[in-house]
Amino acid sequence: MIKTIATTPYTDQKMGTGGLRKKTKVMMQPNYFENFIQSIFNTIGDLRGKVFIVGGDGRFFNDIAIQKFIKMAAANGVAKLIIGQNGFVSTPAGSNILLKNHTDGGFVFSASHNPGGENGDFGVKYANATGGQVPTSITDKIYQISKEIKEFKIYESDDIDISKIGTQKLGDMIIEVIDPIKDYVEMMEKIFDFEALKQLFKKGFTMRFDAMNAVTGPYAIRIFEEILGAAKGSVVHAQPLPDFGGLHPDPNLVYAKELVDFMYSDQAADFGAANDGDGDRNMILGKKFFVTPSDSLAILTDNYKLIPAYANGIYGVGKSAATSTAVARVAKAHNIGYYEVPTGWKYFVNLMDSNRITFCGEESFGTGSSHIREKDGIWAVLFWLSIIAKTGKSVEEITKEHWGKYGRSYYMRFDFEGISTEVGDTLMKDLENKLPSLKDKTFEGFTIEKAAPFIYNDPVDHSTTQNGLIVYFTDGSRIVYRLSGTGSSGATIRVYLERYSLKDLNQDPRDMLQNLSKAAMIIAEIPERTGKHQADVVT
Ligand code: G1P
Ligand code: ZN
Repeated sequence: MIKTIATTPYTDQKMGTGGLRKKTKVMMQPNYFENFIQSIFNTIGDLRGKVFIVGGDGRFFNDIAIQKFIKMAAANGVAKLIIGQNGFVSTPAGSNILLKNHTDGGFVFSASHNPGGENGDFGVKYANATGGQVPTSITDKIYQISKEIKEFKIYESDDIDISKIGTQKLGDMIIEVIDPIKDYVEMMEKIFDFEALKQLFKKGFTMRFDAMNAVTGPYAIRIFEEILGAAKGSVVHAQPLPDFGGLHPDPNLVYAKELVDFMYSDQAADFGAANDGDGDRNMILGKKFFVTPSDSLAILTDNYKLIPAYANGIYGVGKSAATSTAVARVAKAHNIGYYEVPTGWKYFVNLMDSNRITFCGEESFGTGSSHIREKDGIWAVLFWLSIIAKTGKSVEEITKEHWGKYGRSYYMRFDFEGISTEVGDTLMKDLENKLPSLKDKTFEGFTIEKAAPFIYNDPVDHSTTQNGLIVYFTDGSRIVYRLSGTGSSGATIRVYLERYSLKDLNQDPRDMLQNLSKAAMIIAEIPERTGKHQADVVT
């Protein structure tokens, strides 16, 4: 039976860079989740005939959220839901299922790389028929509606069994439970040369993939161990757990420490990689060697011809403004399109849909291509393995040869976390106001050539977005400042540093960027305003 329940609005349901992301306990407040889903449904309008895909990364509250979602969808007149078995689907696999089935949209319940559990975070990612997360014009509308919502509709019934593959009904709505891995594997087989990868492992090549107790474990076991023949046990932390076993499922040098320690030990495998909570981020490691995500994007782009799906040519490449300029040099050398966009994957979607780019990436461990409309962790790992298989070179050799050819962008990111929203906003506002006066000034030996907000004019929908402030120095170095849009409380200031060198290729990035980091602190008055003399997280 369909019930209409009266509710009172919450005022904080504004979606950020990665959907609506909140403390799990906030999401679990009475009607909080229901209000938000109903706000999306109301934004879409007439739901008759509409088909959506739904799943999550398995974190705490995923099971409850999915049941609520199914019942609300049925009550609101949705025609059909495609659901990952047991409520699991990675973000990239979800985007693929959405596009393959031409559905009207998709919902992935995940707070991405943020910790899970009752005291962690929960999130809702909402994609439209493009396969990518909805643009700001739509998230703004959802937010407006959420502030005025008075009722939601829900079907009163027992929970639906989503543990078995097959089709069933709730009211008039069809529920199809699918194997979320099958389609994804098929897609990867079409992109990459799986035979070459099998040969690589046959020759004794070793890898370790850390799934961080999150959604990619079963995908990785199926692809790397069962199909490609990597040794059993190559995939670690393979079991998705509601609290990720206490891990912070963010694949970087700080949070994937166990993998990093292993890869820097004498027992290291030939290749190491990790994915995040919902499987869209990746980290790439060689033996005692780390590849920055910015370099990774540049290296993949430079080697596109080695991959069957791209061998005939690629349209171009996109990167977020905060990502280093390494890929710009590759794009120039190959004479392909090059675009710099604000932070957030959704800005790549228009560029992919209009055949302007094929590859894209962000410094935050995100790389992907137009096979879907989200970044894709396992895709990046398969791409790297393919380069290794086709060249016979190690991760370190491939990266160092790349630097030898193009020069090296030394790159680091500093995060200042747990700052009050007011301090964060004021710091950015004041810095923006003083940018014009910084021209020609020198800080710690670096002279400023130009300093300006980053403004993006979308070539497709002609929308304008301002995101972050960029300081350009006369030697090609850059500092980017921006506020995080994914935090679940307070503000995080991100400071991105880049220094280019054509000849000095084997230095420690910390040494190369030491003075630039001092300049970054002085320019934005970070210690004075935040009380912090050091970043909380450095990646
Ligand atoms: C962060 C990353 C950004 C990424 C987003 C979603 O957003 O910096 O590149 O797209 O997570 O994964 P931020 O917190 O910086 O707004
Ligand atoms: Zn993610």
